[in-house]
Amino acid sequence: MKVLVATQKPFAAAAVNGIKDILGKAGHEVVLFEKYADETALIEAVADADAMIIRSDKVTPAVLDAAKNLKIVVRAGAGYDNVDLASATAHNVVVENTPGQNSNAVAELALAMMIFMSRTQFTPATGTEIFGKKVGIQAFGNVGRLVGKKASALGMSVMAIDPFLPAEKIIEGGAEPAESLEDLYGSCDFVSIHIPATPQTIGSIGYDLITKMPKGATLINTARKEVIDEAGLEKALEQRPDLKYAADVMPDNYETLKEKFGLRVFATPKKMGAQTAEANVNAGLAAADQIVKYFAEGCTRFQVNK
Ligand code: 3PG
Repeated sequence: MKVLVATQKPFAAAAVNGIKDILGKAGHEVVLFEKYADETALIEAVADADAMIIRSDKVTPAVLDAAKNLKIVVRAGAGYDNVDLASATAHNVVVENTPGQNSNAVAELALAMMIFMSRTQFTPATGTEIFGKKVGIQAFGNVGRLVGKKASALGMSVMAIDPFLPAEKIIEGGAEPAESLEDLYGSCDFVSIHIPATPQTIGSIGYDLITKMPKGATLINTARKEVIDEAGLEKALEQRPDLKYAADVMPDNYETLKEKFGLRVFATPKKMGAQTAEANVNAGLAAADQIVKYFAEGCTRFQVNK
């Protein structure tokens, strides 16, 4: 089978070599398609692919229309909001992700951002410490739990909320359950967002929640920029000169935010939460394995469009 590795943001070399090795040994052909220009280029490249490995690459209905032989797309990573699931299902294409494989990298970035913002972006101004502070984790999945564990180890107290987990599970994971989102935002010096971008969550964090945060609090977003109501964020930062925001990746109104709020805001230029050699290897190799198992055994354990 022909497997297209379509990555506008390429994997580390070790991951590419591992992917080639796993798929090659199983008798599949690997075509690397990195740093491509746009959707038109992807549409051309996908024409004869039987399978695809992607990262945040957009798999649109136009891409699926062009991919006449496509049977499976594996998103090497957690969030699959970049794949049009309804269209994939209509085209009989299986879509999978690789949950948990890049979580540690994202969790480390979330913690790093807490320290970076507490130390006024590593400028000489007097900062604060994260020791003894409280972090609120919005969604206690693979990344959220790791952030909680690492934060505890650094002497922080941890609160969490997850619409899919009862309080007992949050306690088992080492966090104090919040009664509501308002409770979480109202109680924590940091809130770390780990929700996916879905029709329910897009634009769901705005002025009302952000202004619930206590004095000097920082909002950390290593999830998706779309979950923030950016106008609401701007208004909150304007009215509350004590609040800060750090994000992976850049909000659409970042220029304005930077101009107005300087070191109180920070965003990475390109999504980099999962951009470590280790995360690339974990997620890339898992994706290759899943493709091998799909063609060999029909395994669809990680399918997200069932
Ligand atoms: C994910 O959902 O797994 C992360 O956002 C990583 O995305 P990336 O593979 O584009 O870095």
